[in-house]
Amino acid sequence: MSLAVVIMAAGKGTRLKSRRPKVLHEIGGKPLLAHVIAAASKIVPAADIHVVVGHEAERVQTAVAGTNVNFVLQAEQLGTGHAIQCAREAIAGYNDVLVLSGDVPLIRPETLEMLLEYHRLGSAMTILTALPKDPFGYGRIVRRESENALEVEAIVEQKFLRSEQLRIPEINTGIYVFQTKPLISHLKWLISNDENGEYYLTDLARIFVREGELVTAVEAADADEVLGANTIPELVALDASLRAKTALRLMLQGVTIFRPETCVIDAEVEVGPDTVIEPYVQLLGRTKIGSDCMIRSSTVIENSVLADNVLIRQSCIIADSEIGGGAKIGPFAHLRPGSEIGEDVHIGNFVETKKAKLGKGAKASHLTYLGDAVVGAGSNIGAGVITCNYDGVNKHTTTIGEGVFVGSDSTLVAPILIGDGAYIGAGSCITREVPADALAVGRSRQVTKDGWAAARREQRGKQS
Ligand code: UD1
Ligand code: CA
Repeated sequence: MSLAVVIMAAGKGTRLKSRRPKVLHEIGGKPLLAHVIAAASKIVPAADIHVVVGHEAERVQTAVAGTNVNFVLQAEQLGTGHAIQCAREAIAGYNDVLVLSGDVPLIRPETLEMLLEYHRLGSAMTILTALPKDPFGYGRIVRRESENALEVEAIVEQKFLRSEQLRIPEINTGIYVFQTKPLISHLKWLISNDENGEYYLTDLARIFVREGELVTAVEAADADEVLGANTIPELVALDASLRAKTALRLMLQGVTIFRPETCVIDAEVEVGPDTVIEPYVQLLGRTKIGSDCMIRSSTVIENSVLADNVLIRQSCIIADSEIGGGAKIGPFAHLRPGSEIGEDVHIGNFVETKKAKLGKGAKASHLTYLGDAVVGAGSNIGAGVITCNYDGVNKHTTTIGEGVFVGSDSTLVAPILIGDGAYIGAGSCITREVPADALAVGRSRQVTKDGWAAARREQRGKQS
């Protein structure tokens, strides 16, 4: 039984009032279309998935290029029926076709399997339906008087509902399975039926019935899973619903999330058991957090990997970085891309790192910038130390050995090398290599004038 999946994703999404194509709007940190492709990929291999693109086709294709699906071009968007007409050649070799909408992103593979199972009982067209709280805006299912309770007479779009049909609670989810043969032979009967000249895929229900084909509909167990995103409020509601599910999944895996409704956790984030996440935390992209970690409030972590037992104090921003076990970060630390923080490292408040590798147990506790830097194990970077990595044209590296002590308020002008065990006096500007175990002091000598201040005060007293 060969099965093709067609995903309709060519529409502009006029109701979103956005310049971005609808299917590239994101929920849970991922484009709508990527969610639908992920669900389809659980049903058939990518080679059997055909995505209909049209509006900003190139942009849409680029956004999901990594998935290896096929694309069909619908150059002019003349409706969902026309979208499937454009896919005619792509689906010709398959027995059945599962049609998905690019803007119905929460659909679960289990529900699609259930739909396919019903379809295989012999329908030519099987429609997935639902009973949402508010059916307004959706096409409605007109059931057929028949012994088979699943039989359908027609799908009627909202704007064509007659007054007695307005109360029909059962909606069309925009997800269907067709036998390919009758689909291809009946597609030609579609006529454009609104002021925009659009061809409605939904009209096929009535056409199939007229042509003597069996059309049935089965209801999805969870109406929330098949809601579409046509407007920004709908999109935001789907995002909240998906994030709530992600938080629930993590909590059931042993993660404590206080006030999960305040957290923003993307769909693919992983967190180990016994980790605690405080309110207003954002965990984004492909972030992975180990077990027994503590992520305190208002921290944002994106595409980063944290080992076990890491403490992130309040209000840190961490992107594209790695943090070793037992490290303590923040509060108010900024780990920019390429930071590799070793085991048991301590990064304190107002410290910024970028492409900086810190060895085990190194410390930068206060007010420091470490960019393009390597810091050896056990080294101590004093308060206010700055690596001067940029000469206005190029970036240069600062290499600090193991067990080095860099005194407070020192500037290290890269490229520069500081050997193992060296000492840098506080307030130094270091421009030349410091050998291992040496002391370097780069500051002007202190001048002390005994009695100077007292004499000055006395002078002032006389003048007044
Ligand atoms: C559609 C259904 C409606 C159903 C609802 C479920 C039709 C006529 N109506 O309405 O019965 O209740 O979905 O969410 O099908 N698309 C194309 N090419 C086009 C037009 C649309 O590929 O020419 C794509 C869109 O990008 C979108 C999907 O098809 O991903 C659905 O189109 P949309 O305009 O959102 O249909 P609805 O009005 O929501
Ligand atoms: Ca829609």
